[in-house]
Amino acid sequence: MKKEELVDLLQEMTIEEKIGQLVQVTGEVFLMDNIDTTTGPLKDLNLSNKTLYQVGSILNIVGSEKIRKVQDEYLSKSRLKIPLLFMADIINGYRTVFPIPLAQGCSWDPNVVYHCTKVSIKEAGSAGASVNFSPMVDLVRDSRWGRVMESIGGEDPYLGQVFAKTMIQAYQGEDISKLGNVAACVKHFAAYGAVEGGRDYNTVDMSEREFRQYYLPAYKSAIENGAEMIMTSFNTINGVPASVNQWLLREVLRKELGFKGIVISDYSAIEETIAHGVSKDKKQAAYRAIMAGVDIDMMSNVYANHLKELIDEGKVPEEILNQSVMRVLILKNKLGLFENPYGNIDEEREKRILKSEENLQEARKQTAETLVLLKNEKEVLPLKKNQKIALIGPYGDNIAILGSWSIFSDKSKIQTLKEVFEKRMGTKNVLYAKGSEILREKEINQILSADGGNIIHVENEEEKENEYLQQAIEIAKQADTIVLAIGEHYRQSGEACSRANIEISEIQKRLLNELAKQNKKIVTVLFNGRPLVLKDISEKTDALLEVWFPGTEGANAIADVIFGEVNPSGKLTMSFPQATGQCPIYYNHYQTGRPHISNIRFASRYQDIPTQSFYPFGYGLSYSKFEYFDLKISSPKITENSFITVSIKVKNNSNRGGKEVVQLYIQDLVASSVRPVKELKGFKKEYFEAYEEKTITFEITVDMLKFWSEKLQYQAEKGEFKIFIGPNAEEGEETIFELV
Ligand code: GLC
Repeated sequence: MKKEELVDLLQEMTIEEKIGQLVQVTGEVFLMDNIDTTTGPLKDLNLSNKTLYQVGSILNIVGSEKIRKVQDEYLSKSRLKIPLLFMADIINGYRTVFPIPLAQGCSWDPNVVYHCTKVSIKEAGSAGASVNFSPMVDLVRDSRWGRVMESIGGEDPYLGQVFAKTMIQAYQGEDISKLGNVAACVKHFAAYGAVEGGRDYNTVDMSEREFRQYYLPAYKSAIENGAEMIMTSFNTINGVPASVNQWLLREVLRKELGFKGIVISDYSAIEETIAHGVSKDKKQAAYRAIMAGVDIDMMSNVYANHLKELIDEGKVPEEILNQSVMRVLILKNKLGLFENPYGNIDEEREKRILKSEENLQEARKQTAETLVLLKNEKEVLPLKKNQKIALIGPYGDNIAILGSWSIFSDKSKIQTLKEVFEKRMGTKNVLYAKGSEILREKEINQILSADGGNIIHVENEEEKENEYLQQAIEIAKQADTIVLAIGEHYRQSGEACSRANIEISEIQKRLLNELAKQNKKIVTVLFNGRPLVLKDISEKTDALLEVWFPGTEGANAIADVIFGEVNPSGKLTMSFPQATGQCPIYYNHYQTGRPHISNIRFASRYQDIPTQSFYPFGYGLSYSKFEYFDLKISSPKITENSFITVSIKVKNNSNRGGKEVVQLYIQDLVASSVRPVKELKGFKKEYFEAYEEKTITFEITVDMLKFWSEKLQYQAEKGEFKIFIGPNAEEGEETIFELV
């Protein structure tokens, strides 16, 4: 449709029809034989049938057949035939599931993130998804928060910006109406990752400088790269919930960032402003949200049931309503839905594309890039296939390795480690024992009872535990190497999964302790959605491979690395703490006036643990050995309109080709406000042949030195800067230069 036709359409719409475009509900109700709004999620919404057939969009209905059915049912009763918009959470895959976003970011490779994102959205797009609630670009520093697993940039604003751009480009391409593209909804705006205590939905309160310096850049990058939609977060920002925060949505988002797309609330977040205590009732919640600039109300009914009276009373100018409705119509038009209400669905193609062999191969290849080798003493890894291994642990023969946002996944083709190892090594070389559950009954029920899930009962739990343990010890005795597959339960990671103790469970610790007494080499494979406290595990294990929740092809990718077909190259995007009490911990921290550099009593430190992280940001090993030397800078001085180059020699001192992520950090030594001990300003992931040496060069520009100053100006200040180039945030070569 042309723009003027959209204007005409808007003028034809009644107030109720306009408001309907700003309401999003789940789509199950349209799949019912007889529409029943008195049960399920719609019961609480108490929407009339009339309103239902005026809503503008649907949440989490995907699949050609379902979309055709829902769209037909809806349009059959829609006066103006404005098609529904289908939105979904395709977070790390549709039918073929890729590694969780935190893992994808650990590839430090935009191509890896691009391919994981592209295949996911080719599958979901061919099944009719028009808008995807991704990328999640929240900066995260506190591993107690269950949703760190979704953060594509981890604890670093630079990585967040790079990957936000990559994912928007992968989702939207040149034309969002084309097959394989969707409109992207960047989330959660804003600073949701900074919830106090790592407790989900909790308070966020920080200085404007902190917000602008660390939390805003990734959202800005997504918007600059054309994100069509943005989702407001559940949390407050400095005392005002994001969904009613005028400063955040009108000043920063619309005026400063120039965002023209749609603002959608998170699930019932507008109504939740009543619980926050800033709206006295649903009517005020509707008022505050529409005036702040939230266009679509996701799954609460405050817009549907209260906007009309606010407009009739003149409290909300109809122009405000019209602006929001026009933004929805424009997106529907960009997606081509007026001409083709079904989007790119095609039942035949959907069957062919979903979880095709090609997609599985792609998943296997990309997943291997996200695994992080944290320890490899005496080169225990890679294993040989003719070894006899004891594969032990609750993740040894377990398909629950997709992560918490794999709602559309097809689990039929997931192979377990046991199946893959037996294929690679022959069954006689793989002795298997479960060794333990992931959690004991009490712990599982603590999780399941929270959402009213039916709790479980384990008969003779202690007896079973000892039996599992004995079996494990028995097979350990017969093998020369133990591969221990342990980790978090998938329900311990994701939304509403905050943990006050981020260690592995007691039952798994017991298993490891008993196996460590067998004096065998132990390779630990860790399945988890957040940094964990790994001190105990690391001390008792010879090799430690962080695999996160690796997705459909996880077992194959793990085997490819374990047997050396792939040389691991992943690097951490979040610091691993020494103890839970060290959270939040992040590499780009401030020096403080009493840095804990030497062992003095009155320093900024804990008495009972070391001050630095257990595994630092940017850390990850390879089967190759990389040496950094000969750091050179083209000039010790840089001016406003010049740039300098810095180069370093990197040599692969091994007989194995492999990739290394060369990282560039800069520290502003003196400035009008405190500056981090270092900040990532660039990285290059390069392949090195055996014994190959390369010179890696970075350009340093004044732009890279800008920050939010004492007076909240975004500028670079003259003075000395330190450059670090190395394999992670704690090692490398350094030199000084000056901005004059
Ligand atoms: C959830 C999440 C958000 C998701 C939305 C729709 O509560 O916070 O990330 O996209 O609701 O499922």
